[in-house]
Parts: sequence; C-alpha cells; structure tokens
Amino acid sequence: MRVEIRTPRLSDAPTYAAAVRRSTEHVGRWNPLEPDGLVDLVRRQGETLRTYLVFDIEDGGLVGCCNVANIVRGRFRNGSLGYNSYLPYNGTGRMTEGMRLVLDRCFAAESDGGLDLHRLEINVQPANEPSIAMAKRLGFRHEGYTPRMLFLQDAWRDHERYALTAEEWPGL
Ligand SMILES: CC(C)(COP(=O)(O)OP(=O)(O)OC[C@H]1O[C@@H](n2cnc3c(N)ncnc32)[C@H](O)[C@@H]1OP(=O)(O)O)[C@@H](O)C(=O)NCCC(=O)NCCS
Repeated sequence: MRVEIRTPRLSDAPTYAAAVRRSTEHVGRWNPLEPDGLVDLVRRQGETLRTYLVFDIEDGGLVGCCNVANIVRGRFRNGSLGYNSYLPYNGTGRMTEGMRLVLDRCFAAESDGGLDLHRLEINVQPANEPSIAMAKRLGFRHEGYTPRMLFLQDAWRDHERYALTAEEWPGL
C-alpha cells in the first residue's frame, strides 16, 4: 500500500489548493474546480457528508480527494462517491489504492471507525472513461442510466449509475 487516508483539516487548505490548481485540466473537464474550497468542505463535514483525503506515504503529497456525499441512514444506509486525483499522482494506481481504503472505511462498523454504510454508488458521465474504469476496478456493478442527473458545466448531465453493496465488497 503506497497511500493512507484521513479526514481533512483546515491546515490542509494550502496543499489542497495547490493540488487542485495543478490538476485543472483533467479535473475541470468533469468536476467543478474549487481550489479554495477546503475550508468550506471541512465546515460541511457531518452526518450527510464525509470527506477523505488520500496521501502518498513516501513523500506525503496529496494524491486525491473522495467525498462520501448524500449519506442517508435508516433502512437505506447509502452514500454517493465523488472523487478527484491530482497531479503528479494521477494515473499511477495510487488513487485506486486510496479508494479501496475509503470503501473499507465506508463499510466498516462505526465501532471500528467506519461509516457503517450498506450501499455506495458512483454516478459517472458516459464519456468519462477514467472514472468508469475506476468504478469497474473497484468492483462496482453497472445499475442503469440516469438522464439529466447532475448540473455540471452549465447543463444537466446524464450519468451512468454504478453501485456496490457491503456483501459484494471483498475487503482489502
Ligand atoms: C477518475 C480519476 C479519479 C481516476 O484516477 P486515476 O489517478 O486515474 O486513478 P489510478 O491512477 O488509481 O488509476 C489507475 C490507472 O493507473 C494505471 N497504473 C499505472 N501504474 C499503476 C500501478 N503501479 N498500479 C496500478 N495501476 C497503475 C492503471 O493501469 C490505470 O489505468 P487504466 O484505467 O487505463 O487501466 C481521475 O482520472 C480524475 O481525477 N478525473 C477527473 C475527475 C473525475 O472525473 N472524477 C470522477 C467523476 S465521476
């Protein structure tokens, strides 16, 4: 394992801003660019949103960020994953390792520091091949197609819907 994950701190803001700015080209193609957004992200952490930052163990650099958003409990215990990887780590396999740690945390019991979720979903624009590859590498199933699902880049964008339940997660 080349990476570790932890929840964000206010002191991560400069590192986060620099990583997002370095990665404008590939991240901005699919997701909103918010280099100065970490302070607000930390403020919004709670029952419905949990963020994990992925760090390279060897050099301490910020590999990527994963939001577990729209967390619903009760009989659903569901969350939606949104993620970005940053240069120079993009495409080196580190983000996949980080996402595996995030999945493990999502499905773990609260007594073990986890979120105790049962189902995770990833919604991806049909042409976003790197993200679809990520969903498949992690073992997510293709569930369906959701037209006009999210407002991104000034338009309502269709998404492919992938999901994984705790029963399907083999663990690390
Ligand atoms: C989607 C995204 C997070 C994927 O991140 P990534 O940095 O490519 O993730 P990884 O490096 O772990 O991906 C593994 C890739 O690295 C390659 N790789 C290189 N060295 C590797 C190694 N030592 N071990 C494993 N894989 C390695 C793999 O072959 C794989 O490439 P492939 O998909 O062509 O097979 C990234 O492209 C991104 O930030 N995109 C913009 C934002 C976005 O689209 N977010 C998702 C919206 S739904």
